[in-house]
Amino acid sequence: MHFAYNGAETEALSGVSLRIAPGETVALVGETGAGKSTAMKLVARFYDPTAGAVRVDGVDLRELDMAGYRQRLGLVPQEPYLFGSTVGEAIAYGRPDATAEAIAQAARAVGAARMIASLAGGYDHPVGERGRGLSAGQRQLIALARAELVNPDILLLDEATAALDVASEAAVNRATDALTRRRTTLVVAHRLTTASRADRIIVLDGGRIVEEGTHDQLLDLDGRYAQLWDAFTGMYDKRSA
Ligand SMILES: Nc1ncnc2c1ncn2[C@@H]1O[C@H](COP(=O)(O)OP(=O)(O)O)[C@@H](O)[C@H]1O
Ligand SMILES: [Mg+2]
Repeated sequence: MHFAYNGAETEALSGVSLRIAPGETVALVGETGAGKSTAMKLVARFYDPTAGAVRVDGVDLRELDMAGYRQRLGLVPQEPYLFGSTVGEAIAYGRPDATAEAIAQAARAVGAARMIASLAGGYDHPVGERGRGLSAGQRQLIALARAELVNPDILLLDEATAALDVASEAAVNRATDALTRRRTTLVVAHRLTTASRADRIIVLDGGRIVEEGTHDQLLDLDGRYAQLWDAFTGMYDKRSA
């Protein structure tokens, strides 16, 4: 599969061939500009490939009914915008008919219930413009609960780059695990702890797949992923020092 943005001289994705099994979690890693977000956008059909095809259950996305397909899709963007005026409404966005019990169930399923209970007013806590007053970790937990409530069978998760404190990071990791467990997931992993827990890791560089395997396989390979992992764990050591 190939893809070039309109007017671009070089392809953003070049000869990328990737097959994801039902229920599998695949993590995309790579430097800025490698093509990770572009790959997600093609799966969501924000764009069509310039050559080749993106297929779901063997069917070319261009032949699918988009409204039906989008309902099967859970999208967690990098900087989740919280719609609605309260935490409860923000979770229910995408399923406005959801009952309070269904909303609470989704929050429990991703482990966000305790965080919400700690907010003044709980589910009635105001979210405001861009979730002002909520931390990055709290916003991410709400976005993950929102995706859980939609109950998609395909999940596209573009992980936030914002640094989280240790407690929030643990909560977000648990929520991500709960959400991805039974679902076919493509995650752009900015935190390599997320990549390390995926069933498979794809390393993109300059629009091409340069490495592919499990965390252990790629560490053994001692290539690009191993370098990224060393840099990442080194950064962690410095942060906690
Ligand atoms: N809307 C766009 N128009 C033109 N070029 C783009 C656009 N979005 C991304 N690109 C280019 O495509 C390449 C891949 O970008 P992207 O998929 O965003 O990388 P990543 O998510 O890995 O950082 C980069 O060279 C980037 O500059
Ligand atoms: Mg990106």
